[in-house]
Amino acid sequence: MRIGFVGCGNMASALARGLSDPIVCSDVDAARAQALAAELGGQAVATNAEVFAAADAIVLCHKPGQLEDVAGDVDAAGKLVLTLLGGVALSRVRAAYPDARVYRFMPSTAVAVQRGAIGLVDDDAGDPGAFEVVRALLERVGEVLVLTEGHLGIVTATAGVAPAYAAVISEAWIDAAVRKGLPAPQAARLVGAALEGAMALLRAQDMDTLAVRRAVTSPGGVTARGLAALEAGGVRAALDDAMDAVLEAGA
Ligand SMILES: NC(=O)c1ccc[n+]([C@@H]2O[C@H](COP(=O)([O-])OP(=O)(O)OC[C@H]3O[C@@H](n4cnc5c(N)ncnc54)[C@H](OP(=O)(O)O)[C@@H]3O)[C@@H](O)[C@H]2O)c1
Repeated sequence: MRIGFVGCGNMASALARGLSDPIVCSDVDAARAQALAAELGGQAVATNAEVFAAADAIVLCHKPGQLEDVAGDVDAAGKLVLTLLGGVALSRVRAAYPDARVYRFMPSTAVAVQRGAIGLVDDDAGDPGAFEVVRALLERVGEVLVLTEGHLGIVTATAGVAPAYAAVISEAWIDAAVRKGLPAPQAARLVGAALEGAMALLRAQDMDTLAVRRAVTSPGGVTARGLAALEAGGVRAALDDAMDAVLEAGA
């Protein structure tokens, strides 16, 4: 199956890198498309219509507001169209591409390293076979949760933002270690390994957060004191507020 990308920005690059297949792609900035095709193999073409003509499945990776303009210029009959356009309902994309089978998903940029957390809308467009093709494609770049479209905003506000949140939390943690005297490169390695290890442990225990937390928290011990400081600093309220802020912004 040949995959096409319309728009070659951050998300297209992440997904294309994770899939690592030769691509056919276009962008209003031709140099951006050429750079992505040169990196991954395949072909950059001058128009979006050429992407649709050459590919079997096309991922819409332009900005949400460009939906109707892009759709008006291409022939999508019989194609698989995959939309990751933030805040754009599946019904609107289907109306723009009436002759295609359209599926909606929401990834994170961690798809670039095949560790994405991906929400796929549980609407098979009356074609279960094609839906399974889409699901299998996305499973190559991460963990896929099939869920209702109403929950897709939560995927954005959780998984989509996760690389940014993890970066800012890591940065603060590294800075704290540096303030106490650890050289920055070592602090960065330590935080990276500690977070990866902690997540692996949580996953191995079915995300039983309470069990993992209790296992490192002796009564009156150092972890208990650290956790109390985190609670006093408002870590839960901050994550709640961040969820509200992203959803209120239209995710
Ligand atoms: N970044 C994320 O983490 C993330 C996560 C989930 C979903 N998304 C969704 O992914 C989409 C792309 O986001 P992004 O972060 O990758 O944005 P981006 O980096 O700005 O990439 C969009 C690309 O599309 C190009 N483009 C604009 N108009 C076009 C057209 N008519 N035909 C072809 N290409 C066109 C843009 O060129 P110009 O810049 O020159 O306009 C740009 O290179 C958005 O709809 C967003 O909601 C992003």
